[in-house]
Amino acid sequence: MTRPAPDFLWGASTAPHQIEGNNVNSDWWVREQHRPGMELSGDAVDSYHRYPEDMRLLADAGLNAYRFGIEWARVEPIEGHFSRAELAHYRRMIDTALGLGLTPVVTLHHFTHPRWFAEDDGWLHERAIDRFRAYIEATTAILDDVPWICTVNEPNMLAIMTTMSRAARTGDTKKWLSPTVEGVARPVLPNPDPEIGRLLVEAHHAAREILKQHTDARVGWTVACQALTATPGNEAKLRELRYVREDLYLEAARDDDFVGVQSYSSQAVDENGILPHPVSPDSTLTGAAYRPDALGIAVRHAWKTTDNTPVLITENGIATADDSRRIAYTSEALRHLFETIDEGVDVRGYLHWSALDNFEWGHWEPTFGLVAVDRETFERHPKPSLRWLGDVARRGRP
Ligand code: FCB
Repeated sequence: MTRPAPDFLWGASTAPHQIEGNNVNSDWWVREQHRPGMELSGDAVDSYHRYPEDMRLLADAGLNAYRFGIEWARVEPIEGHFSRAELAHYRRMIDTALGLGLTPVVTLHHFTHPRWFAEDDGWLHERAIDRFRAYIEATTAILDDVPWICTVNEPNMLAIMTTMSRAARTGDTKKWLSPTVEGVARPVLPNPDPEIGRLLVEAHHAAREILKQHTDARVGWTVACQALTATPGNEAKLRELRYVREDLYLEAARDDDFVGVQSYSSQAVDENGILPHPVSPDSTLTGAAYRPDALGIAVRHAWKTTDNTPVLITENGIATADDSRRIAYTSEALRHLFETIDEGVDVRGYLHWSALDNFEWGHWEPTFGLVAVDRETFERHPKPSLRWLGDVARRGRP
């Protein structure tokens, strides 16, 4: 049985828009107000002000890492105008994490954009990559001592969202769905346009170059790894779909320092495409099948497709109101993860999604947190799963 390295990261993940609150200069803030059926992020869970308490809960439980993001819409609310105060805020977060013994894993882009960027053609604008580059350059001023940087979160999901936004602009507004909620329950998310995927690859490589020049961090991006499998005779269809939805993005990570693997469930592919998640009492609150074994499938596929790029689990978790199910799911997922380590996959850490119950992209019901939050008083209530994961971290093995 291989023991993971002593600096193996054990932690939890969040994203700015989902926890901070009042991200008023972002495209999601606008979207929430205009899409029927979507709830508002509002104050979210006010982690913008309460991050020291949130980080302390993780550290006290025994975790040694925290993945959080820098919000582009705050740092650059107007094109070319960078907010020194917001950059200082994120620097304080980095210092707070380091002070508590939590290794900061910092994401620079997690689904949201400044309004000005989104409203001016977003990623389809001819200067989109230059705009992104300027933002990345601004962040390098505060990234000293950050050992892990994720440039773009789930570029494959972002490409789907960009594909949907383009369709919505041409009049079909019904085409926009929350990617992690309605898009899971009803398997109707379109394939991402590979041209958009290629643009995001270019953006990632541009960001990586800047970050490698100005920081000592390991740089990578985090991919939604969907653990797709073929029904008998449908391997070719699987390869075709997996290429546009996942492999294009994994291949782009071949020269990265690590690849972020994000895994929740698994789905089969038949001759017509991806099969919907079966409806079952076991389904999670997003409608995804209960598949803790997905993590092992995802890691093996990412390791192979990236030509053995070191793996960091940047997200894995379950939407459930029953915390004992979270512990059962995670314990099994970790067992599958450690099988891959025993097989020789270079896994650098496990970051659970999510530290806190939070705003699940248009919805509050699916709760993924190790910590519950009272949304009126903002009081934090750690769940048994937090203590459980902290114990696993102290032991160093599930
Ligand atoms: C991932 C997202 C993350 C969260 C989880 C449940 O796709 O990166 O923000 O929504 O799903």
